[in-house]
Amino acid sequence: MRIAILSDIHANIEAFQAVVNDLDHRTDRILNLGDLVGYNANPNECVELARNIGMHSIQGNHDRAACNPEFAEGFNIYARAAILWTKNNLTDENIQFLNGLEESRRLSCGLACHGSPENTASYIALPFQARAILKKMKKGIWGKINFCLFGHTHKRKVWRMDVRKKVAPVEIPPDGIIRLNDEEFYLLNPGSVGQPRNGDPRSSYCIFDTESNSVTFKLVEYDILSTMKKIVGADLPEFFAKRLLSGT
Ligand SMILES: [Fe+2]
Repeated sequence: MRIAILSDIHANIEAFQAVVNDLDHRTDRILNLGDLVGYNANPNECVELARNIGMHSIQGNHDRAACNPEFAEGFNIYARAAILWTKNNLTDENIQFLNGLEESRRLSCGLACHGSPENTASYIALPFQARAILKKMKKGIWGKINFCLFGHTHKRKVWRMDVRKKVAPVEIPPDGIIRLNDEEFYLLNPGSVGQPRNGDPRSSYCIFDTESNSVTFKLVEYDILSTMKKIVGADLPEFFAKRLLSGT
């Protein structure tokens, strides 16, 4: 089975549509690790595209805060302004859809979550955070899983615990292909579709292939200037438009 793994689309319809167009006929399923909305100007269009293509979505912290603004209290001033704008612009039907999403999902190949398996808003960004989750996976806290798919940082990343329990990041090669080993444990982040922060403005996603036991990272160009114009036109913070150009 080939599963397209997307995350952090953040109401960027140009980026989301470009990634959907990039998928080929061998894609069996599409999974989104959360944050369909927030930051950018097309939340309804992104929810509707997600529903139309039958993508399975996990609830991200921005999806949750768009439905329940009390969850935005810890957001910075710009993110909070954007989430209030999002709440005011989402249709009731789309709010209901976001509110009904699950926090995590068990897959045949592992576990899918937004921030970490323990908390939607927690980050797996530093080695000690990766080590703590990988140790729990090895202990079987979440059942027998070798892979945890996560988002939230907007940075594509692979952490591996090898058979000697050593934890280290895995470098993503130029062709984007990483072969996986069943005896090891992995944390996989596909990066962000709608607001990438790897220093490359292209949308990032990956394909998880359960037959060849590999993951392939992909980068896709989209019409960034259109997305930027919409952000400014909607009176959302300009900061969100500028950061799309630099991919940070
Ligand atoms: Fe996000």
